[in-house]
Amino acid sequence: MAGLTGEVKGVIEKSKGWAFATSDENGIPNVVPIAFGKVLSESQVMLIDVFMDKSLENITENPKVAVSVWDMETLKGYQLKGTARVETNGELFDEAAKMVKSMMPQLKAKGVVIIDIDKIYVTSPGPDIGKELG
Ligand SMILES: Cc1cc2nc3c(=O)[nH]c(=O)nc-3n(C[C@H](O)[C@H](O)[C@H](O)COP(=O)(O)O)c2cc1C
Repeated sequence: MAGLTGEVKGVIEKSKGWAFATSDENGIPNVVPIAFGKVLSESQVMLIDVFMDKSLENITENPKVAVSVWDMETLKGYQLKGTARVETNGELFDEAAKMVKSMMPQLKAKGVVIIDIDKIYVTSPGPDIGKELG
């Protein structure tokens, strides 16, 4: 699998929000906007749970998730598919708690959703649309 490097990483880091999709054990989908997120490595991203409810319930039923990120200025976008797990303490949680506190002191992180990315697809309009990066 191609990693979260170069242009993909750039689009994620510039993106002001992430669309985070989960589904329950019956395949009923749930997609929510997320503002707090970060690239952890070439194959991992972290979303910060402040208000998640159904998303967390779905991850326990079905850890396969998808994230969509895009840059409206350049019209570049990517879809990431992977496997999620939730952590409510530890180093990453502490980092997330600090991030939320510094950006929006009135909010509090409840946990972090760590996603191991399996596949990356191009969503940018153009000849590569739909292609898997690999
Ligand atoms: C612009 C925007 C940014 C948001 N950012 C976050 C976020 O970073 N973390 C979070 O847990 N919820 C965030 N929310 C709330 C979620 O979209 C969602 O409503 C919440 O997680 C509960 O949804 P769920 O019960 O389907 O998981 C945001 C909502 C909006 C509109």
